[in-house]
Amino acid sequence: MSIIKNDFEKMNITKIKNSKNNKKLTMITAYDALFSKLFEEVADMILVGDSLNMSFAGKPDTLSATLDQMIYHTNAVCSGAPRAFTILDMPFGTYINKDEALTNAIKVYAQTNAAAIKIEGGEDRAEIVKHLTSNSIAVMGHIGLMPQYVRSEGGYKVRGKSTEDTEQLIKDAIAIEKAGAFCIVIEGVKSEAAKKITEAINIPTIGIGAGNVTDGQVLVWSDMLGFFEDFKPKFVRHYMNGAKNVKDAINQYKTDVQNTSFPSSKEEY
Ligand code: KIV
Repeated sequence: MSIIKNDFEKMNITKIKNSKNNKKLTMITAYDALFSKLFEEVADMILVGDSLNMSFAGKPDTLSATLDQMIYHTNAVCSGAPRAFTILDMPFGTYINKDEALTNAIKVYAQTNAAAIKIEGGEDRAEIVKHLTSNSIAVMGHIGLMPQYVRSEGGYKVRGKSTEDTEQLIKDAIAIEKAGAFCIVIEGVKSEAAKKITEAINIPTIGIGAGNVTDGQVLVWSDMLGFFEDFKPKFVRHYMNGAKNVKDAINQYKTDVQNTSFPSSKEEY
């Protein structure tokens, strides 16, 4: 008989929806099997974010990520964390109309074990979300600061600073909820506005740069573990000094190679 306590709880759409007002949800991004395996038993949801185009592929924004790349990374994440509730972030240009969105979402379901897809957009994308959910695709929304709009908006701008903008964000959230989404990411939104949005809908909100008022949080793994050194957004907390630890370790390895202390007799055949 096993005495190992395993309190891992596999998530599904119903549990995620029911967590509203009951339990704060924790989501983290992952792009490969190595890290998803480490996150599987802790995270309620793993997001294969198109942020991988920046942090993994070193591109200046998310816009050039392709669906095939997202499928490749999602398969890696699902291999490492087969029990996780994994969401594939639909990249820019893959849901420009209802039919293309559905064709691409079906491709995702056919080629990966993703439980859901994520789509950026509010009222402007509600019809597309409705078409997907009415064809049995689980959709997570994403409103507020939407990285895929960076070029059309002229930068990354914090939202919800005015009453008008807050009202628009509430309309966006309600439209996406009505379209059948099970959850909505709220990114880069003033905390007071995020609170109003969260209170206005019955599905959970997952915040990033939106204060602690949302129903859960998401962070990009390389940000929260301190691997990204170029700058630290205000909303990121470093839970580890990843970049420094890696550099220290690599330097130690180099030193050990140079002074022949690696490999030792215990590390040879
Ligand atoms: O691409 C991503 O990682 C995301 C999160 C920041 C929500 O969309």
